This record gives sequence, C-alpha cells and structure tokens, in this order.
Amino acid sequence: MIIDRIKPLDAILATAEKKSLHRSLGAFQLTMLGIGAIIGTGIFVLTAAAAQKAGPGMMFSFIIAGFVCAVAALCYSELASMVPVSGSAYTYTYAVMGELLAWMVGWALILEYAVAASAVCVGWSGYVMGLIHNLTGFALPSALSSGPAWGLNGILPTVDFSHGVVNLPAIIVAAGVTWLLVIGTSESATVNAVLVAIKVAALTAFIALSLPILKGENFSPMMPTGLLGHDGLGVVGAAASIFFAYVGFDAVSTAAEETKNPQRNVPIGLIGSLAICTVFYLLVAAGVIGTVGAQPLRDAAGAVLPPDGSDFANRCAEMAAAGDAPIVCSKEALAETLRRINFPAVGNLVGLAATLALPSVILMMIFGQTRIFFVMARDGLLPEKLADVHPKFHTPWKMTIFTGICVAVAGAFFPVGQLADISNSGTLFAFFMVAIAVMILRRSDPGRYRPFRTPLVWIIAPIAAIGCLGLYLNLPFIAKMVLPVWGAIGLLIYFLYSRGHSHVGRGLIEVHEEDADVPPPAVPPIN
Ligand code: ALA
Repeated sequence: MIIDRIKPLDAILATAEKKSLHRSLGAFQLTMLGIGAIIGTGIFVLTAAAAQKAGPGMMFSFIIAGFVCAVAALCYSELASMVPVSGSAYTYTYAVMGELLAWMVGWALILEYAVAASAVCVGWSGYVMGLIHNLTGFALPSALSSGPAWGLNGILPTVDFSHGVVNLPAIIVAAGVTWLLVIGTSESATVNAVLVAIKVAALTAFIALSLPILKGENFSPMMPTGLLGHDGLGVVGAAASIFFAYVGFDAVSTAAEETKNPQRNVPIGLIGSLAICTVFYLLVAAGVIGTVGAQPLRDAAGAVLPPDGSDFANRCAEMAAAGDAPIVCSKEALAETLRRINFPAVGNLVGLAATLALPSVILMMIFGQTRIFFVMARDGLLPEKLADVHPKFHTPWKMTIFTGICVAVAGAFFPVGQLADISNSGTLFAFFMVAIAVMILRRSDPGRYRPFRTPLVWIIAPIAAIGCLGLYLNLPFIAKMVLPVWGAIGLLIYFLYSRGHSHVGRGLIEVHEEDADVPPPAVPPIN
C-alpha cells in the first residue's frame, strides 16, 4: 500500500529525453545561478529572529544550516541529473517510492514554495515600509502593516491583534507578482543578473561599513541560549530557522541537465554557491552583532522570549515607545543597523535593494509552486481543470491565481519568522525523502546512468537525512506541528480524491512531450 503505484522511471525519462536541453552551463554560471537563487529574505530579515534565538551564536547557526544544505544538495543533484524533469522531489519520489509518498512530498512542497513566497512577501513589506518611513516620514498604522502575533495556550492557538491585524503591503506584492505571472511575464536573464548584482552589492556595502567598527565585547556571551534551547531557541533552533536563508540552492541541481560535465560542475556550483553565501552570511551576521549587539530580548523574569510571539511583540513595542528597541525587534535588520551606525543613506539604499530584489524571489517561488501543481494535476492527483492554460496569455492562470491568493492570505496574517519556519518544515521533509530515495535507487537500480553521482553516498546521504531530521526537530513547536497536520489533510485528500483519479492508478502512463518542463510558455530563467 505505502510503496505501490511506482511511476516507471523509463516513462519519466522518455519525457525528458524528448526535450533534452543544450548543455551550456559551466561551473561559474552555476555558482552565480545558485547565489542569485539563494540570497533573499533569510539574510535581509531573518537575521533579527536568528539573533533573538541564539544571540551571537547565530554565526554557528549559519554554518550548521549551510552544512546540512550542502549534503542535502549533493543528494538532490544525483536525482535531479538522473530524472531531469519538472516536479523535482515529487517526481523523484514517484519514481522511487511510489504514488502515496510522492503525493506527500508534493503536498509538503506546497509548504516549501507557497509558504516561502508568503514569508518573502512579509519580508518585503518590512523593508518597503521602513524605506518609505525613512524617506517621507509616512508610516502605515501597524494594524495595516503587520499580521497578528500567534501563540499557543496549551495546544490551542492564540492570536493577538494588538500589534497588527493585516499586512497590506504583503497582499499588494503577492497580488502584483501573481498578476505578472498570469500575463506571462518572465524575468530576462539580464534583469536577473542585475538583481543578483544589486543583492550582492547591498550585502558587500553592509559588510564594508560594519566590519571596521566591530566591538569585541558584543560577542559575549556568545551563546546566551545554549546549543539546544527549548521550543526553537538555541544555536540549533536558530539554524533550523535560518535554513530558510539557503533555500533556493535546488536551482543548481535542477540545472544539472543544462550543465557541461555535470559530474564536475554541479558539485562545484552547489558547494561554491553555498560556501560563498555562507561567507557572506557570516560576515553580515558578524557586522550586525559587532556593531549594534544581538543579545536576545528577555521577559521580566529573565527568560528569552521566542520571536513572533505576542510577548515578544509587546516587549518590542514597549522598548520602541521608549526609543530603545534592540535590533532583534527590527523588520529590516540590515538597513536599520546601517542607520544606527550613522550611514542612514546607505541604510536606505540597502532597503531599496531589498525592495527591488525580493519580488523576484517571490516570483520564482510562486512560479515553482504552479509548476509542482501543474505536474501533480497532469498525473491526475489534482483536478486537471486547474492546469488549464489561458487562451491569450498561455499561462496556467487558474493555478497561478489560486496560488497567489493562498500566498497573499498567509502573508497577510502571519509573521515572517513563523512562515519561514513552516516553510522549512516542508522543505526539510522533502530533502529528507530525497536523501532516502537516492540510497534506495542506488540499491534497486544500480546500473542506471547517473550523470552526477553523490560522492561517498553511503556517508553523505545518511548525514543529509539525519541533518534534515535534526533541524526539523529543533523548529518551534507550532512549525513542527504544521507538517503532520498538513500531512493528515493531504492524506484525506489523497484517499478521497487523488487515488481514484490517478493516471498511474488507472494504468495511463502517458508521456507529455510538450509539457516536459511546464508550464508553457512563460518559463522565466531560474532566479
Ligand atoms: N533563500 C531565500 C530567501 O532567503 C528563500 O529569501
């Protein structure tokens, strides 16, 4: 039952072979592609939440998260190069572990893509509001620029509207990006290159201005919440959150098919982009800690407050009213740090860089989500009507609008840190399954051609699986619980609808030549 309905790998590969892409990318292009896809809300916004969870110890968190990504990426690449069709982890799982688990992975990928898009919308909102406020003095009331704070009373969710009700800018950016995708806008390679340069320039400026004035005493105590704090606090808890800052590296794996000499260049691109981002992130984190300090905020009893909770929001509001809010409260930590160290103009430029560059991350995420939905609908697991292509724009408009609405609603009512944590839970599950799939496939189909082979697979894949599991277990309780609840809803849908409509289940294993890399034709280059 669990491992039945395996989609034959040969049928999947026949799809890919009909659309083989020209192998043109080298190690350098791959590395740039990875850096472009990786840098986003994680470093620009979540640095504050990571500091609240781990204090200066967040520097170790960046290293831990980067390491888990690197080993997971090496596994991902083997499958990506071997099964180079759209749908990523969902398709790989279909071929290796059957339909039920594939459905669960596809279902979890909704958390990865759609919820991540919402997180970036909220991150964008913080930066754009900060920028407008600093340039014009205008500030939208917090009721309209922030979602409410969520918490738990026992196991029941609580919601506190005192510092936010609905995040209007997040809705606006989600709607804008959805509209661009519906009319078939694709980012040109040039626009993409410019946006990558803007992001890298902003981080470089931050590092160049902050590092020379570091104060050693700001790094002590180094790990105020320890290695393993409770409910997502501590160095490993911060690593589980900051994992979000590295998501996107799968863009490199997915490009394996277009890579010259993938066995050599894919690992260089992956490890290269992850290593470069890790160095950037460490320097930026050091810049924040060393200049303005990054010790966590505590309650009156001295306990560290989890970020995103209402107690934390209350404490931040009190301190802001007294003109004394620490950087861990900031929604635009990098711009705010520069303003505090007397570079207000550069701070605004960094804010502008984030405002310009983050929508492209949202675009890629919503696009990725529609691609997964599209493949699942094509397999009959979701209603095929959803995959309808617009007669004029030639885009899967129903699916795109549906995704856009979900992204806007989540962005409107949840804080960025919680969204990122929830997204991470889905991503970690998908990568865990990929690590397992690589090992199974090595045993069950050892002779098949693998353009890229995970080096030392019997060491790397178990480390990747354990690393993903370890980070998942250190997410805050709410984020951890979302995955099983979401999974249970997914199982219900699977048994009530998808299982009966599945093409594989009905014996239809068709090959779609034209939509091997769907949706057509508005395929933006990977960010
Ligand atoms: N890594 C991407 C970001 O931080 C998802 O926005």
